[in-house]
Amino acid sequence: MKLLIFGPTGGSGAQLLTQALEAGHDVTAVARDPDRIPAAGHGRLTLIGGDVLEPRTWQAAVGGHEAVLSCLGSRDRKHPTTVYSQGTTNIVDAMSQAGVRRLVCLSSAGLEIPPGTPLPQRLVTRFLIQRLYRHGYTDMAAMERAVAASDVDWTIIRPPMLTDGPLTGRYRAAVGRHLANPRRISRADLAHYMLSHIEDRGTWQKTVEVSS
Ligand SMILES: NC(=O)c1ccc[n+]([C@@H]2O[C@H](COP(=O)([O-])OP(=O)(O)OC[C@H]3O[C@@H](n4cnc5c(N)ncnc54)[C@H](OP(=O)(O)O)[C@@H]3O)[C@@H](O)[C@H]2O)c1
Repeated sequence: MKLLIFGPTGGSGAQLLTQALEAGHDVTAVARDPDRIPAAGHGRLTLIGGDVLEPRTWQAAVGGHEAVLSCLGSRDRKHPTTVYSQGTTNIVDAMSQAGVRRLVCLSSAGLEIPPGTPLPQRLVTRFLIQRLYRHGYTDMAAMERAVAASDVDWTIIRPPMLTDGPLTGRYRAAVGRHLANPRRISRADLAHYMLSHIEDRGTWQKTVEVSS
């Protein structure tokens, strides 16, 4: 497939890029600093220097792709961000203009505390994790609303804590419902899920929780 990846310099994005190339896909990767993209020089990889918040830098490249995969994220916990909401809205707008329909993007399991969560875990999530990541979560929630209201064929993936563990291919996924006791997943397994469900229509217009 012809895939367009945002966030290839990040942990999950680098895994996704590597796995996509290994699987034989043609990949276009958009990064603020393309020199930091792994696998630069690969014959099936096209690099674009661009900021998702400045669509003029990359929107002309969107046409012709069969899917857009976003591993965008903000590492700044102290300040509000719009990289999830405005960034992904820019992507959706560019996809609509270019006639590209399939979008897979990342959010977080920490946005919501599922019913039945044990009290200690509920308290940790509510008063520690949701406070620590409040700016990111606020913007992710806005992103989820914007994506769900769009007319692209979207899948929003909500992972729990990400690790740099190996690719195992052994993880759980819950489509359109909560996963019991999500704890962690490796970025490699998260990328594996994204890549292997691009064409799975059962995940379109759905939020998916994943966990090892
Ligand atoms: N860490 C966790 O435990 C955890 C848990 C649940 C969900 N998540 C979410 O999962 C996703 C992946 O996490 P990760 O830790 O693998 O990602 P990450 O390493 O933080 O990578 C984020 C990527 O987004 C890019 N980016 C940020 N702002 C951009 C902009 N304005 N224009 C273009 N690119 C931009 C970064 O590029 P630069 O290299 O140029 O900065 C980087 O490639 C994120 O959305 C994260 O919030 C994380």
